[in-house]
Amino acid sequence: MKLGAITLQNSVCLATAPWDLTGEGYEQLGAIFTKTVTMEPRAGLPGDEGILQVADQTLLNRTDLRIEGAEGLVQEHLPRLRRFGVPVFVSITAPGVPGFRKIARYLQREAGDQIAGLEVYITVPHGGSGSDVTARFVREATEAVRNELHADLALIVKLPPWPDHIRGLALAAQEGGATALAATNTLKVLHLPADPNAAPLVGGLSGEALRPLSLRCVWELANDSNLTLPIFGTGGIFTLRDVEDYLKVGAQAVQVASGEWLSPGLSARLASEVAHNASVTR
Ligand SMILES: Cc1cc2nc3c(=O)[nH]c(=O)nc-3n(C[C@H](O)[C@H](O)[C@H](O)COP(=O)(O)O)c2cc1C
Repeated sequence: MKLGAITLQNSVCLATAPWDLTGEGYEQLGAIFTKTVTMEPRAGLPGDEGILQVADQTLLNRTDLRIEGAEGLVQEHLPRLRRFGVPVFVSITAPGVPGFRKIARYLQREAGDQIAGLEVYITVPHGGSGSDVTARFVREATEAVRNELHADLALIVKLPPWPDHIRGLALAAQEGGATALAATNTLKVLHLPADPNAAPLVGGLSGEALRPLSLRCVWELANDSNLTLPIFGTGGIFTLRDVEDYLKVGAQAVQVASGEWLSPGLSARLASEVAHNASVTR
């Protein structure tokens, strides 16, 4: 996949990389995408408490998870993720357009020479509702980030799993200067724990149950003649067949998150299989 000035060596990427990523084979990945950071850190649950398996290969990612701040990312986490020698993209979010501008400016200044680009996590602005995630908001947020980034850094816009709306949002990202799209992020759900006295849990659904929805979103994007940006498919990738399915419906590369969380090292193994197949068919 070509992302502006960068060519990814493999179509398999790791999304939401654990900060303490260790192990073999990650140097074969196409790229590493960090967990989302905000300008200031946000207190919350650590990952092992905030992420639950709610069905087969399906996770609920609670909304009240801890989020790292941009400074901690630059000082502590980025050097560790860079040691695998593959492009690192930093995922960012903010409560509104000025916040996106601020964090993009900070990361360009403090880490612009260490990263391959930014991934913009499009989420509901200013604590509003999904209807506030408009094409205008996506375009303005994308533009704000693009204007802070040097031309050689890529800007990926990651969209929610909304097949009926995703084309309009993607077009807005393209107009705002995105280099590529990622489809999709998690789906907002509510989970009732087995204990009848426990409170319902709200969060983002990922993994196996998300895959048909994300595939549909990628297909919507790939079949819109107005959209020319390359697409990262993400949602429920566990096997080589899943990778191929995303490529078949129009993605140029994929990101693996739940699969890696459930089975550490999975993204590296998939990248190795893809590299092996490419060398056999060459
Ligand atoms: C444990 C976990 C943490 C996640 N954290 C983030 C995050 O910080 N930022 C983000 O954009 N997406 C996050 N996601 C969403 C994933 O990057 C991915 O878009 C989504 O889960 C679909 O892929 P999957 O089914 O392979 O998990 C997270 C997903 C999981 C499972």
